[in-house]
Amino acid sequence: MSLPSITTVYIYMHVGIDDLAIYVPKLYVDYKDFAIARGIEPQKLEYGLGIRKMALVDANQDPACMASNACLKLIQKNNLQPEDIGRIYIATESGLDESKAMNSFVIGMLEQVYGESSFEHAGGIECKFACVSGSYALYDNANWIRAEENNKKSAIVIVSDIAKYDIGSSGEYTQGAGAVAMLIKENPRLLTFDRKVASTIIKNEYDFYRPIGKETPLVNGNYSNLLYLIQVKKAFDSYKEKTIATGLISLKDGESITDYIDFFSVHLPYRKMGEKALIYLLRHEWRHLPRWKNVINEIGIQEPVQKDARGTIESVLSDTEFMKADEKFRRAFAKSTFYHEVFEKKMASSLEASAIIGNLYTASMYMGFRSLLEFEYKKKERDLDGKRVGFGSYGSGSSAMVFSGIIQPEYKDIVKQMNLEEEIGPRIRLSIEEYERLHGNGRNPDDSIIHPHKEFILMKVGGTTADKAGFREYNYAN
Ligand code: HMG
Repeated sequence: MSLPSITTVYIYMHVGIDDLAIYVPKLYVDYKDFAIARGIEPQKLEYGLGIRKMALVDANQDPACMASNACLKLIQKNNLQPEDIGRIYIATESGLDESKAMNSFVIGMLEQVYGESSFEHAGGIECKFACVSGSYALYDNANWIRAEENNKKSAIVIVSDIAKYDIGSSGEYTQGAGAVAMLIKENPRLLTFDRKVASTIIKNEYDFYRPIGKETPLVNGNYSNLLYLIQVKKAFDSYKEKTIATGLISLKDGESITDYIDFFSVHLPYRKMGEKALIYLLRHEWRHLPRWKNVINEIGIQEPVQKDARGTIESVLSDTEFMKADEKFRRAFAKSTFYHEVFEKKMASSLEASAIIGNLYTASMYMGFRSLLEFEYKKKERDLDGKRVGFGSYGSGSSAMVFSGIIQPEYKDIVKQMNLEEEIGPRIRLSIEEYERLHGNGRNPDDSIIHPHKEFILMKVGGTTADKAGFREYNYAN
């Protein structure tokens, strides 16, 4: 007797970002003050790098406080209870302890509000891979929900960092601080992740790193810029392959995958890096398509080719003739109507927040996503429902991750409440002397510039006895 045929019906679960909340410290340095103090032309910061304000933490703040503040906002605005949350993951490269995860500090702070042991049922780890680890954390938590290990609970992924560089270094003007907390669940209201297309690459590199015990990173600036572009492009190639293999996108003649991405949100160490990433991607994706002839006609110069095509970053950077010609071409391409249209339509809105906050390492891309939603919505001429956002996440060291998602119909309920300036709140512009004192850790937590209300603050580091060394005490300031 033959068995009846069984038809398997797969019902795919839609998982993604339901809501997000941000925390940005209220102290900042203005680019004009900074330029005067360092003898740099302000135009270099404003136009060359796209920096206007750099957010700084006060003496009574650290990445755990910022993470807790963003997380509390997220929980409160969604009327969540601790039992609704099954996992809290924190991605950061500003770790406070070599073994105690930042999560435990955050849980301790949240329990000051929700009661002792209120989050005991949950789990979570601190994740590290420079700026990209938040994307891995999102992906892993989305899969935890897809695998139905979540007992109907949601996950929260928090990305929180302080970007701090040496005084007088070229990294100093790319500082910043802040946190983003994201609620990950089934049938999200903001964005559903596209399935089976998230792509990563990984390679041992020394573009930017911070040896144990050192407060500021060691950076190979120009190398890091080019490596970022190359690594994101490699991850994009793998994403492209997957989108075609899974049938998510079917390309017709003359088309590029970039035509099917409505918005780009990429890692933003500074605003201008977003533009550079888009230029690099479009040049690589378009140069073999019929449209390239029209681009070249408009630009009026040919794209340069490197003579010594060994392909290493060092060989590219040391080929001064090629670099000069390539820079000329890049600037001309950036002025073309072809690039300009894509930039204005698909990326510009995601860069607004970066210019007034600075580098947030793990949180940069997600602050950019938040910025994209708010400023695109404010344009009012476009409905964002059903639009695809392509994410290009980069972490030095190095790894890149490219993935995408679709904006959901309920996005408006959340996005219409967004107001970046209001959410950051009134800010204090520090003098360079005040900034340098804070940078040199010249203030203690009890000597902070701001005395906040309804926020978690750091009270003290280290107990009075040796066995309490490294103890961090936090308080919810009412
Ligand atoms: P720099 O050497 O000071 O800058 O370092 P520059 O001389 O290259 O100038 C920057 C731009 O300003 C140039 O434009 C100049 O032409 C322009 P571009 O050629 O790039 O288009 N410029 C002017 N524009 C207008 N008016 C003027 C003027 N003068 C010059 N008067 C660098 C810049 C970013 C390298 C440095 O700040 C740095 O090292 N930052 C830290 C590292 C970094 O952010 N790297 C980015 C990629 S790696 C990454 O994103 C990962 C990271 O976030 C860490 C992680 O993953 O954890 C850093």
